[in-house]
Amino acid sequence: MTTATAPGKIILCGEHAVVYGRPAIALPLPGLRAYAHIDSAPPGSGLLLKASDLGREWMVDETTTEPLGKLAYATLRSLGISRADMVITITSTIPIAGGMGSGAAVATALVRAISAYTGCHLHPGDVSALVYESERGYHGTPSGIDNTVIAYEQPVWFVRQAPNTDETSGAISPTAYITPLSIARPLRFVIGDSGVRSKTRMPVGEVQRRWKANPSYYEQLFDQVRSLAEEIRDALATGHTAALGTLLDTNQSLLEQMGVSSPELERLIAAARSAGAMGAKLSGAGWGGIMIALTDEINSTAVAEALRYAGATDVIETIVNAYP
Ligand code: PMV
Repeated sequence: MTTATAPGKIILCGEHAVVYGRPAIALPLPGLRAYAHIDSAPPGSGLLLKASDLGREWMVDETTTEPLGKLAYATLRSLGISRADMVITITSTIPIAGGMGSGAAVATALVRAISAYTGCHLHPGDVSALVYESERGYHGTPSGIDNTVIAYEQPVWFVRQAPNTDETSGAISPTAYITPLSIARPLRFVIGDSGVRSKTRMPVGEVQRRWKANPSYYEQLFDQVRSLAEEIRDALATGHTAALGTLLDTNQSLLEQMGVSSPELERLIAAARSAGAMGAKLSGAGWGGIMIALTDEINSTAVAEALRYAGATDVIETIVNAYP
């Protein structure tokens, strides 16, 4: 049996602006993970996928259009293998569709497990490219930040190089300028789930419509995000956690101006700030999903309680490690 795993993620700053070529920063969440286990199966039995958490299992072949099966065969093909007899079991502790990268983490664990099982090595860049292709099936034209931070499993500064803002156009290349980021001190976050589920492509499409209607307004918002991302990068590298909190608050205000926040998210953000969080913002596509609050050891329990009281459907306390 072979097991592989991949972390969840949060976008610390720059969501939406990243689609328009501005930088974004994403962090892996080592405490939340997806797993893929592979067992061999008798010759000729084919490929069985099991999603144990969902109580589902299904056979897939080379012609499947189902995303995970398609990814499994794309991975096998990239390794020069045309067919396989195996049972792949997927499990995950990452909340589904909440903006914490559950889909990309499951996909990354699957690709890593297949390459380990078949004794072939895949570079994180190859894993990331396979996962990107798969994510396109769900999201249309994702920037590629999720698959990058998860496949490399380290904090990243991500700038999309070939911004393609037309949701209806065909294939795009996920080329991006990616730099590993250093984090001087571990960061403690409390993540609150608004309980509202909104597909990533909905707010992304709405921002695109508004950007087309009023490009100068949106371009200056995106430029402000770029400056903010640079300041956040410095605060991470120097360990200025209090300054980081203030910068996250500013990013939230820009996301509100972009029109991707929501009353539910803002209620949670206000509750976290009142309970002592150093800063708080939505993370991911918005309109629903999660918000993140930057806390410390002293106030994280109070922030978590405040989030539950304010209606969060799930509250997760997590630590992002320091990276040299
Ligand atoms: O829904 P999430 O957490 O994967 O975040 C989407 C981030 C956006 O910048 C809004 C879209 C993208 O493709 O980067």
